[in-house]
Amino acid sequence: MANESEPFSEKLRVPEALTFDDVLLRPKESHIEPDEADTATRVSKNVSLNVPVLTAAMDTVTESDMAIAMARHGGLGVLHRNMTVDEMVAEIERIKRADELIIRDVVTASPDQTVREVDRMMERRGVSGAPVVSDDGEVLGIISGTDIRPYLEVGESDAVSEAMTDEVVTAGEEVTPREALELMYEHKIERVPIVDGGNRLVGLVTMAGILARREYDNAARDENGHLRAGVAVGPFEMDRAQAADEAGADVVFIDCAHAHNRNVVDSARDIKREVGADVVVGNIGTREAAEDVIDFADGVKVGIGPGSICTTRVVTGAGMPQISAIAQVADVADAHDVPVIADGGIRYSGDAIKAVAAGADAVMLGSYFAGTDEAPGRVITMNGKKYKQYRGMGSVGAMKSGGGERYLKDTEDDEDFVPEGVEAATPYKGTLESELHQLVGGMQSGMGYVGAESIPEFKERAEFVRVSSAGQQESHPHDVVITDEAPNYSPDGN
Ligand code: XMP
Repeated sequence: MANESEPFSEKLRVPEALTFDDVLLRPKESHIEPDEADTATRVSKNVSLNVPVLTAAMDTVTESDMAIAMARHGGLGVLHRNMTVDEMVAEIERIKRADELIIRDVVTASPDQTVREVDRMMERRGVSGAPVVSDDGEVLGIISGTDIRPYLEVGESDAVSEAMTDEVVTAGEEVTPREALELMYEHKIERVPIVDGGNRLVGLVTMAGILARREYDNAARDENGHLRAGVAVGPFEMDRAQAADEAGADVVFIDCAHAHNRNVVDSARDIKREVGADVVVGNIGTREAAEDVIDFADGVKVGIGPGSICTTRVVTGAGMPQISAIAQVADVADAHDVPVIADGGIRYSGDAIKAVAAGADAVMLGSYFAGTDEAPGRVITMNGKKYKQYRGMGSVGAMKSGGGERYLKDTEDDEDFVPEGVEAATPYKGTLESELHQLVGGMQSGMGYVGAESIPEFKERAEFVRVSSAGQQESHPHDVVITDEAPNYSPDGN
């Protein structure tokens, strides 16, 4: 007679794989307050972040608005690839220019324009002052609203050359924010034109710009002080990868639903050889996949089917529950000092910090941020509640817009799509800043329960306990009716 605990067949002698709800962090003695927990991390070998969070490369999540907001708050946005290469380059340039000390695209006036014309132009372009330049770009003066106001009353047809201030304080391109501010205080001015050796205009530094940069003291910046940009490229898109690299992307993400495919690995290796930016390879979910890319990847991204809009596991029957996927990839990646990004399935801040406990250095989220103002798309109202669209990159809609290659599908003919994602709506949530604050605050509290001051220390100290289904129920609010919404909890995920 067969032993009751023996499987009926060798085929059924299978390992168990776990996900977020199957585990909890074991509380440990702590000497730190959650606010003191330092969330600095690495997303790839050469790119560090103060906040271990990335937004997903999805066309309803990350374009330049989201990427700028994420980098300003210390994380990283990864641009999706349902756009042309030219559009992608323009998006990267926009991110890189966002918090630039020297504004290059300067609104200028000419000395022969009338005061009225310049007033209208400044209003239209949303600026409160403009350098006055000759036809060959030489700086002749500067004109501001204060100069213009008296003329609007009595001489709005007068030439700008009459109204402008012609003793202009300028600086060279090497000026630092501190030097520019000192010049502004000394001369009681709000903008300094930047000139070359021939006194020709090359840019402008403004007081408002300097103060805005100061506000974001956690920001993710490159060595030139520009905001960091991540970009998704298809595994076979060498041209896109090279264009992203040339435009200044910091990290190129090989964006594939199943990167453990021989052709994908070979092509990703070629891309790594050709670009200067760090190359993160994904998605993978097993130890063997990690071993096959670890010699060339600057980072690995983990997630086979955990995402909120994914149907990969039900459509294909394949996948790996996310905690087990992260842990096995991290075993390999840690030994090679390669950062791990956990991508998908994160509903709460508790899931995010569990992902780090399993071995991730950073987490990537889609649905959590898709409802924010910075995500592409407009707010829609259904039954009196506000939503934004959120769709899988393997959904029919996204594949029609060019995303099919992620699923290694030929997207020539719409009829042939075999989708691996759905199109959905997600509650509208307001600003990215407040959502990110809740996410990171919850992660810091998790670090506090384990008594870890930093992400590396947390990864060392964290231990899991297995949770029964009764334990899972106990974890959520129970036996009550929720009367007021919490900013970081909803029974269906945040
Ligand atoms: P969350 O759970 O944060 O997941 O919304 C975002 C991640 O899901 C992946 N993704 C997909 N996976 N079919 C899939 O199987 C899809 O259509 C799809 N679209 C996105 C992706 O890794 C993303 O970061």
